[in-house]
Amino acid sequence: MKNILCIGAGYVGGPTMAIIALKCPTYKVNVVDINADRIAAWNSDELPIYEPGLQELVEKTRGRNLFFTTDIVQGIKEADIIFVSVNTPTKTFGRGAGRAADLQYWEKTARQIKQHANKDLIVVEKSTLPVRTAAAMERILHSGENERHFEVLSNPEFLAEGTAVNDLKKPDRVLIGGRNNELGQAAVKELVKIYAHWVKRDKILTANTWSSELSKLVANAFLAQRVSSINSISAICEATEANISEVSRAVGMDSRIGPKFLNSSVGFGGSCFKKDILNLVYLCERFSLPEVAAYWEQVVLMNEWQQERFVDKIIKIMFNTVAGKKIALFGFAFKADTGDTRESPAIKISRQLLDEQVELRITDPRALQQAAIDLQEFGDKVTYETDPYAAAKNCHALAIMTEWECYKDLDWQRLYDSMEKPAFIFDGRNILDHEKLYEYGFNVYPIGKPGMSRLV
Ligand code: UDX
Ligand code: ADP
Repeated sequence: MKNILCIGAGYVGGPTMAIIALKCPTYKVNVVDINADRIAAWNSDELPIYEPGLQELVEKTRGRNLFFTTDIVQGIKEADIIFVSVNTPTKTFGRGAGRAADLQYWEKTARQIKQHANKDLIVVEKSTLPVRTAAAMERILHSGENERHFEVLSNPEFLAEGTAVNDLKKPDRVLIGGRNNELGQAAVKELVKIYAHWVKRDKILTANTWSSELSKLVANAFLAQRVSSINSISAICEATEANISEVSRAVGMDSRIGPKFLNSSVGFGGSCFKKDILNLVYLCERFSLPEVAAYWEQVVLMNEWQQERFVDKIIKIMFNTVAGKKIALFGFAFKADTGDTRESPAIKISRQLLDEQVELRITDPRALQQAAIDLQEFGDKVTYETDPYAAAKNCHALAIMTEWECYKDLDWQRLYDSMEKPAFIFDGRNILDHEKLYEYGFNVYPIGKPGMSRLV
C-alpha cells in the first residue's frame, strides 16, 4: 500500500483527498493540518466546510484509508507522495504587499518535509502558486546536507466551491507539470497513475512545471475577466434601455464565446480570483511587462467598482440617505452552495453601508457564523438572522447578495407586507421574478436592467 500525505486540510486538500481515498482504495491517505479544531471537525459529523455531497463522501472512506490528524511529522515519515495544499494568501506586508503571494506557510512546510523525510519523495504543489515556485521549493528541499531526493510537481486544482465533489469526480482536465528529465517524468507518471483510477487518460494533461503553474493563474484570470466584462456591460445597460440578460444570451449563443460565466452580479468573490490575478499582475511587473500587468489589473478594479456602484445606487435611490435605515442582506457567502465568505462582495458592501450608518440585518443559510466574524468590529450595528422573514421585518430595503435557490421560493408578498414603505429591493444576482415583485408593491432594482419604480 502506498502512502499519500496531504498537508493542509482546507477547501482544496480535504475534498481532493476524500476523492483520492475513494477512488484509490490501495492507497492510504493521511491529511494533516496545524489547526487542531479543523482536524477535529474533519473527524466529526460536521465537517469544517460545507460542500454538497462531501459529508457522505468522507464517511465512506474515513477510518478505512482516509485519516485526518495533526501529526505532521509522522505523516511525513510514512509518506511516498506529499501533496501540499496550505494557504497562500496575498501578502499584506513588505515587498509586493497587496499583490504577491505570501509564501511563508509554503516555505515552512518545505522545511518540515526536508527535516523529517526519511526517503526520496514526490512533492506535489496543490495550492495555487506563483510561477517558478516549484524551483524555489526544490532549492529549499535540497539545501544544506541532504541525501534525499525530492521531485516537485505542479498539479493545480481547478475545483470550484459548491460543486467540488462533482468537479473532482468528473474534472474537465487534470494538469500535471514536471521537469523534462528522467526523474521528473517518472514522478509525473506516478501521479498520472493515481488520477487514472477514475479520470480518462486523454483528460490528464502533462506539461512542463512552469506551464502548469501559469495555466492555473491564467484559467482563473480568464474566468474572472468574463465576470468583469459582463459586469462592465451591466453599467451600460443601466444607463440605456438595454437588458443584461438579453445581451448575455445573445452574446453567449456565439459558440466561440459560449454561455457560461456571463451572469452579471455584485461582483466576483472567493479565495482565488482576486488573489490569482494580483499574483499574475505582480509577476508581469517583475518581468518588466507593465502593459500586461495593467491589462489584468483592470479585471480586479472593475470588480471593485461594480460593488461600489451597487452601494452608490442603493443610496441614490433611497433618497440619497440611508443613515438610520434598516437594510437586509440576503446571502453573505461569495456564491451559492458554500459557507465560504472569503472576498465575498457582501463584506465590502456591508462595510460601505455600515459606514453610511445603516442598521444591517444579515441572513444566509450557511455563512452566518462566518459573517459575524467578518463584521465583528461593527458590534450591534449588525444583526444576524437565520430566518429571512425575521431579517426583512421592518426593513426599508432588501438586497440579494448570493444566488441561493431558496430565496426564489420565499413568500415575497409576505416579505413586502412586513417591510417599511416604500419598500426597495436590489437584486444583486438577478435571481428573482422582478415583474412579480413589482406587482407585490416593491420598487425593484436589478443589475443591468431598468429599475421598476412606483415612486413619482
Ligand atoms: C474558482 C474557479 O472557478 C475554480 O476553477 C478555481 O479552482 C477556484 O476559483 P470558485 O472561486 O470556487 O472557483 O467559484 P466560481 O464558481 O468560479 O465563482 C467565482 C465568483 O464569480 C463567485 O463570486 C461567483 O458568484 C462569481 N460569478 C461567477 C459571477 O458573478 N458571475 C458568473 O457568471 C459566474
Ligand atoms: P485552500 O482554499 O487553498 O484549501 P484553506 O485556507 O482552506 O486554503 O486551507 C489551508 C489549510 O492549510 C488551513 O487549514 C491551514 O491551517 C493549513 N496550514 C497552513 N500552514 C500549515 C502547515 N505548516 N502545516 C499544516 N497545515 C497548514
